[in-house]
Amino acid sequence: MQQKKIDSTQKIPLCCYSQLSSTNLTARSLVAQGFNLPFAVRADEQTAGRGQWGRVWQSDRGGLYLSLAVALDLTLEEVFYLTLISSWGVAEIFNRKAIPVKLKWPNDLLLDGLKLGGIKIETGSTQTKVTQVIIGIGINWQNETPLNGINLVAYPSIESLDQLTEMTLDGLVLGIETYSSLQMKGSLPFYLKYCCSIGKAVEINGQMATVVGVDEKGKLVVLLSSPGARCEISCSPGMISLGYY
Ligand code: BTN
Repeated sequence: MQQKKIDSTQKIPLCCYSQLSSTNLTARSLVAQGFNLPFAVRADEQTAGRGQWGRVWQSDRGGLYLSLAVALDLTLEEVFYLTLISSWGVAEIFNRKAIPVKLKWPNDLLLDGLKLGGIKIETGSTQTKVTQVIIGIGINWQNETPLNGINLVAYPSIESLDQLTEMTLDGLVLGIETYSSLQMKGSLPFYLKYCCSIGKAVEINGQMATVVGVDEKGKLVVLLSSPGARCEISCSPGMISLGYY
């Protein structure tokens, strides 16, 4: 990442909507119309919320559905890592408020081992270089959650969606700034501090493996051990599924 066009001391303009199909989609269309970056879009509910890997993100009222549009200069590899470090930034802000959010690789925010939220970055580009990035984040606040989900009703210190929005934007900006100044190598230890995927047992192509780390590109490192052979491999998200346990 070469340039830093986001200033944490500056308030990010926020466009609020009652209902959208997807805040990521609206943010992309506003970028295309030439809106000044950075800006954020929030909706009270989404009718077609987009999750990772083509999944639907259930988006009933009471949850936070937010997209931050920023100007950055990234390779596609760096965009993937930005997902990790953005989720770290949000986890860090929650932990500073005594809400013990952890991270499940690559982009899940966990509370008590259950999914509190997730991040989906969209670039709208298949070029090798990306200059505009939409960081979409959904967090369960008071909405009902799907199986394996959790919301924040046990944490009344978060009194409003506005407060949650501000914390979340602070977290995303913290992630971007940390990455801008420390790059992947320097910022990875921050991510690992909250990542609870290390040590988990996983299955890859029918073979048992153990998660042993995250590499400097943000890929998961697993140790395959079969009788007489041990080897470490780096996995992309599509290769592996980590359950909630
Ligand atoms: C995940 O699958 O874990 C990521 C979910 C990201 C959902 C958010 S909600 C706001 C933004 N708009 C979308 O359509 N998706 C993201």
